[in-house]
Amino acid sequence: MGEANPLLHFLFVSFPGQGHVNPLLRLAKRVAAKGLLVTFTTTIEFGSRIRAASQLIFPTESDSDLIPVGLGFLRFEFFNDGADPKNSIKDLSYLMTNLETNGPSALVDLIRRQSAAGRPVSCLVNNPFIPWALDVAAELSIPSAVLWIQSCAVFSIYYHFHHRLANFPTDKTLKTLVQLPGIPPIAPDELPTFILQSNPYKSLTEAILAQFHNISKARWIFSNSFDELEHETLTVFAEISPIIPIGPLVDVGEELEQEEIKADLWKSADHCLDWLATQETNSVVYVSLGSVVMLPANEMAEFAYGLRNSGRPFLWVVREDVRGLLPEGFEKAMDVEGKAMIVGWSPQQKVLASKAVGCFVTHCGWNSSLEAITAGVPIVAYPQWGDQVTNAKFLCDVYGIGVRLTAPATRETVENCVAVAVDGEEAARMRNKAETMREMARKAIAVNGSSDRSIEIFIDDVRKRVAGDGQSSVD
Ligand code: UDX
Repeated sequence: MGEANPLLHFLFVSFPGQGHVNPLLRLAKRVAAKGLLVTFTTTIEFGSRIRAASQLIFPTESDSDLIPVGLGFLRFEFFNDGADPKNSIKDLSYLMTNLETNGPSALVDLIRRQSAAGRPVSCLVNNPFIPWALDVAAELSIPSAVLWIQSCAVFSIYYHFHHRLANFPTDKTLKTLVQLPGIPPIAPDELPTFILQSNPYKSLTEAILAQFHNISKARWIFSNSFDELEHETLTVFAEISPIIPIGPLVDVGEELEQEEIKADLWKSADHCLDWLATQETNSVVYVSLGSVVMLPANEMAEFAYGLRNSGRPFLWVVREDVRGLLPEGFEKAMDVEGKAMIVGWSPQQKVLASKAVGCFVTHCGWNSSLEAITAGVPIVAYPQWGDQVTNAKFLCDVYGIGVRLTAPATRETVENCVAVAVDGEEAARMRNKAETMREMARKAIAVNGSSDRSIEIFIDDVRKRVAGDGQSSVD
């Protein structure tokens, strides 16, 4: 990095959650790869966890290490929100309040440190749940962008709900369909659960909707999606507010090979890839419910016996916080039979890229959904809450690459759904569709693809602003 001609410097600010950090970090890598310096920040506590889980990307204790990415560089620097780690892991409202109180001043300090170090920030990019980052950017006259980490359809639903632009049911047992432009009719039990009155997680609803209060301060609104996937939603929504798809933010090709630049909360059991390599093509059932979902012990038992009864090899992610909910002796018995592997955390993108994976039993978090699409893997959908239920509707009914496992799952339904997704005509049909979507996803992020072009336009726009001609090319 020559002193005479410093690289354009972008600051990426993430809410401390796995489902938030992953897409923002992947975007940060894509931006850096185009010849920029990107600083990635989140809370110091999250930083120490990812540092512990991913030794490879943090060779020293120094925050200022530059990691080469394509034509540019990435660096990490975390901010101190003063949270008590014991409370912030368990209590979301504590985490949110604390972030809102202490985050803005910590972020201002961090931005000032960049200027003092001779790398002033030219653009700030944040993700949902930390809307105050946009206020900080506005106060410091730094242009800003938001990365919406869920689907455009879900963005549109929340937007219409927040601005009272459509009628929404209050109860998921009602029959009324919600009609929104550019989106197929949605039944109440397919809406993001956080907008239903029955939703017990009110602080999450507030956190999601809070983003819409000041989103107009962002010059660009990006979404982790791609034009070919949500064309109609995007086209129609553009009349209300343009949202620019720059995804799928999923590592492919070289990015996947260099996947050590990642921010996992748990150390991933990479040896499962060796086991997968010994399995037959399309034979393994991969099961993962993301970083937050916890099933009750009885459902864990039904999953366990359903998977075992399926007679297929399976790779099941059971995080350490829920390990104790497995039926007693189950893990040991599976070990002895040698047909299954249970791990605390997997290198999921690489797992899905393995030819051995026949289907993915998922909670339909948006990252997992896009990772499955980009890998061309059929899905067994078991959504729990929030956007997951809406994503499941799209994966199964609109994209046609998933089969729905109804809740609460029983061992028989688990076994049946796995059979539908792996064997027979329905499985072949889903796999064909999944392959087509895989190609579309890869095209969008390839050089000159629809999403890649949008990232280029964004960078050029900031570059022009810095150079002083002020005129935006995405106006
Ligand atoms: C959260 C919400 O729950 C979800 O509804 C929303 O769409 C995004 O934020 P999470 O539940 O963690 O996310 O699910 P998901 O969006 O799928 O993100 C999980 C991430 O962790 C994925 O990128 C996945 O690849 C990664 N992962 C998961 C691993 O790397 N290894 C694992 O073993 C499991």
